[in-house]
Amino acid sequence: MCKNEFNTRCRELSFGQDSQLSKYVLDTVQAHGKSKSAGKLPVIWLETCDSGDNNIAFMNTTYPYLGQVLSGLIDLLYSNAFMAAQGKAALNILEQAATELQGKFTLVVEGAIPLKDNGLYTVIARTENYSLTALEAVTWLGPLAKYVVALGTCASFGGVSAARPNVTGSVGVRNVLKREIINVSGCPVNPDWFVATLAHLLHYGTPELDSLNRPALFYGNTVHRHCQRRSYFDREQFAEKLGDQECMFSLGCEGPRTGADCPYRQWINHVNWPVRANTPCIGCTNEDFPDGSTPFFTPLPEKNAPSHEKQPPASPGGDKDE
Ligand code: SF4
Ligand code: F3S
Repeated sequence: MCKNEFNTRCRELSFGQDSQLSKYVLDTVQAHGKSKSAGKLPVIWLETCDSGDNNIAFMNTTYPYLGQVLSGLIDLLYSNAFMAAQGKAALNILEQAATELQGKFTLVVEGAIPLKDNGLYTVIARTENYSLTALEAVTWLGPLAKYVVALGTCASFGGVSAARPNVTGSVGVRNVLKREIINVSGCPVNPDWFVATLAHLLHYGTPELDSLNRPALFYGNTVHRHCQRRSYFDREQFAEKLGDQECMFSLGCEGPRTGADCPYRQWINHVNWPVRANTPCIGCTNEDFPDGSTPFFTPLPEKNAPSHEKQPPASPGGDKDE
């Protein structure tokens, strides 16, 4: 399957109830596994300053399932969240992988990078006489990697880890490395967004990115665009309380300024998503999340001013750029 066909089929078929993007990723992975000449994507995965929500979401991937991802799509060389090795033994594996596969591995960073006090507030590995901070690890490995993927909103933009008052001085990976970072934002990330990005890197290289360096395939439209309650918004019929069937813009929904395909991709294993579950979108993929979304359950004009100037204000008058 060529790159254009892959992307087109992903877009078209992810709208259908029974035809998720991930099935096509599975086909691609299985075909790839049968090819003797093809290898897997070598991955070094660092968990830094976050809640671990993205690796939990990743473990819930379906079509392909986790075992299929690990056996057919990626070669997980190092992961301080998943691996059994500890201490010096784990660091030896990391050093060996970085040396032998320099310029070939994909660095996945899950979490923000604390800068304050030389990065002391996130140590990813410790031996008897040495502590490796997230800042040191990312600064060391970033320039050696073929691709760098920031997994989750903390890794992409700072996220919850950098929320006011940000006592650890946390930032996104883009503030640490001077190179292209592929941001796969979300709190957590839908496993489809991450697994399909890895599949794209393996087979076709860097996917088309939006203005925030996120794969446009998943973040190119707002949640609002395909929301099941959009007709209520257009008729200015708004919910008064949670559980009402009308549009939840009045309850602080961030859908009009949030790029994500949640209304048709759905969570997790493609069964439901926030608005369908009667709670507003809180804008978890946004560059200014969570500070720009708070106080939650407050209509957009009354929230804190977004820190990112490019985030357009929304109004009940309509989603003007769509
Ligand atoms: Fe849906 Fe929120 Fe947009 Fe209303 S404001 S249509 S609930 S995304
Ligand atoms: Fe996040 Fe909003 Fe989707 S909160 S999971 S982008 S509906």
